[in-house]
Amino acid sequence: MFDLDRIRADFPILSRQVNGRPLVYLDNGASAQKPRAVIEAVTRAYADEYANVHRGLHFLSNLATDKYEGVRAVIARFLGVPDPEEIVFTTGSTMGINMVSYAWAAPRLQPGDEILLSVLEHHANIVPWHFLRERQGVTLRWVEPEPDGGLDPQKVIDAMGPRTRLIAITQMSNVTGAHVDVATIGRAARERGIPVLVDGSQSAVHMPISIPDLHCDFFAITGHKLYGPSGSGAIWVRRDRMEEMRPFMGGGDMIRTVTRDAVTYADPPMKFEAGTPGIVPQIGLGVALDYLMGIGMDRIAAHEAAIRDHAARRLGALPWLRQQGTTKDKGAIFSFTMEGGAHPHDLSTVLDKRGIAVRAGTHCAMPLMEFFGLTASCRATFALYNRLEDVDALVEGLEFCHELFG
Ligand code: ALA
Repeated sequence: MFDLDRIRADFPILSRQVNGRPLVYLDNGASAQKPRAVIEAVTRAYADEYANVHRGLHFLSNLATDKYEGVRAVIARFLGVPDPEEIVFTTGSTMGINMVSYAWAAPRLQPGDEILLSVLEHHANIVPWHFLRERQGVTLRWVEPEPDGGLDPQKVIDAMGPRTRLIAITQMSNVTGAHVDVATIGRAARERGIPVLVDGSQSAVHMPISIPDLHCDFFAITGHKLYGPSGSGAIWVRRDRMEEMRPFMGGGDMIRTVTRDAVTYADPPMKFEAGTPGIVPQIGLGVALDYLMGIGMDRIAAHEAAIRDHAARRLGALPWLRQQGTTKDKGAIFSFTMEGGAHPHDLSTVLDKRGIAVRAGTHCAMPLMEFFGLTASCRATFALYNRLEDVDALVEGLEFCHELFG
């Protein structure tokens, strides 16, 4: 059962006021709030259980190592994969995708080889590929969305060609919430022998994930959007791709031996984890994922679908509000601008005065904003702890903005 009151009570920050009003937090796409279980686990990890990992022969180091290493299995379970050794810890999706760019793609892509991207991508799944374009002549091929912001998987399949060496694609737009059918894309890519990287930064927050059903090779997640600490995250890398990857960063923890003349490396996944890692953030992420699995990702998805439908109805009834990405196949993320009215930054500022937090700007997705013909929009992203009343508060706030600016 999905007990919203109990869930809300688990997030201490939701009971605070902002600008004299109860907080209505709708900036979950930028970063989600943290449940008490995560906050307490982080405090406990520093207060009682802290030492460096993998190095010590003493009690605390072994305790911290066990806790930290145990998170790989939690992440594997969350993503539906059997082998925790295929989970590489990162600081978030940005690091994971950069790792694939440097460690897997850079050594094997030649000038004229192609990477297929959708216009929906977040900059984290664009800029690492631009590096390869700038530095080694790789071509970026783009697949356009539909006018309603949805992405037709057939268009991605049709764009796969003899020079396509990688498909890098989001499973959910961070701007509009549009779902992308990566399973269909992945199946077609596998038939053609093309590897697929899925940016799961948004999707993993809002729906159950079963990586084996997606036929992909890499799947990136980011902890701070998953109600975990910032600086935590992971990328799942299929075993054979891991074997193909050269080390990413060099330093401690990723080596077997170092001499003056040579170096040998640790086995994956540690081969890709140089230096003292984000020990406590990853421990917090493990607790966050256990918390989500305790509620059930299917229940979270059902709750957010009800919010999405309510928001689509209520925002859709505002004649002066222009929405971007109205495809039906989407999550509870809404991008909008006011017809002939205020700049999105002004909307955000006025909403903030009413205790409502939204994001305004380009949402790290400039190609998609360009597709919509915009330089900025306002974005409300809903989370497991949001209520239908939060939608109503947003609508009232927007009506106030319309009276003010309209
Ligand atoms: N990528 C985050 C967002 O969508 C920061 O806002």
